[in-house]
Amino acid sequence: MARSGKVTVVGAGFYGSTTAQRLAEMDIFDEVVLTDIIEGKPEGLALDMNQSREIEGFETKVVGATTAPDGAGYEAIAGSDVVVITAGLPRKPGMSRMDLIEVNAKIMRSVAENIAKYAPDAVVINVANPLDEMTALAQKVTGFDRSRIMGQAGMLDTARFTNFVAEKLGVPVGSVKTLTLGSHGETMVPVPSACSVDGKPLTELLSAAEIDDLVDRTRKGGAEIVALLKTGSAYYAPSAAAARMAQAVIQDHGSVLPVCAWVDGEYGISGVYLGVQAEIGREGVRKVVETDLTQDELAALTEAAEAVREKQATVADL
Ligand code: LAC
Repeated sequence: MARSGKVTVVGAGFYGSTTAQRLAEMDIFDEVVLTDIIEGKPEGLALDMNQSREIEGFETKVVGATTAPDGAGYEAIAGSDVVVITAGLPRKPGMSRMDLIEVNAKIMRSVAENIAKYAPDAVVINVANPLDEMTALAQKVTGFDRSRIMGQAGMLDTARFTNFVAEKLGVPVGSVKTLTLGSHGETMVPVPSACSVDGKPLTELLSAAEIDDLVDRTRKGGAEIVALLKTGSAYYAPSAAAARMAQAVIQDHGSVLPVCAWVDGEYGISGVYLGVQAEIGREGVRKVVETDLTQDELAALTEAAEAVREKQATVADL
């Protein structure tokens, strides 16, 4: 199998280490770099993952590197084609993603400065929360083209919605298509009109009240897991989504995925990082792809954009 390129995962918590593992097991990169500020942790995890190579049958080399905010250790990420930022604190039970904004903005600032310095050509996928705001901050601090910075949330929210629909109807997840747009938070916009099961509109299979329940559970999908885990937040589905996005970049897929991307005129919305569908390739976001929305869905997306825009304007000062 042809392997190429280097992907870095910043942050070796559960989200970061699981993402690194998934990327390594895809066996499509020459190298996966995992970094963390906890001395020895990324090196230890990398060693462990490398020792799984014979059993899992992959050749991608995993490299662990301890980093410091002043940039020490960041040489390991030099030349990365893709960088996934997972650094930041997760929620505790009862917290909203927005409660993390100040502490995670400080972490993001330092990480983004070092990415700009050591991996100036990378496509960046942010997963730190609050997602839309931290993605905007990563762009501001790196100064990278907006198309080279995106956030992971829509794939996760969509996958959660799909899972709930499949369970409710007792059908394979493979037969279900769902879509969520908007923010990765209160103003998430699940799009029932774009959802189907084996090609049949979801709206013909479930009542409006049943769909509303699933939409509500999807919107609170992260919090439901935080409440159960008590420490930390979800990482299996989130890391699956982040790894697929990195794959779409390195393989120049051109696949249309729900991601947090810079919106510039689509849906009549401009100047904001927002959850939309976008064509992803080697250069990052090739273009935002609009989908037909009902009037209510479009109104909800516009409202989400306004809420997120206001918050994104504040991150520049954090
Ligand atoms: C979630 C976090 C990762 O939704 O944002 O689970």
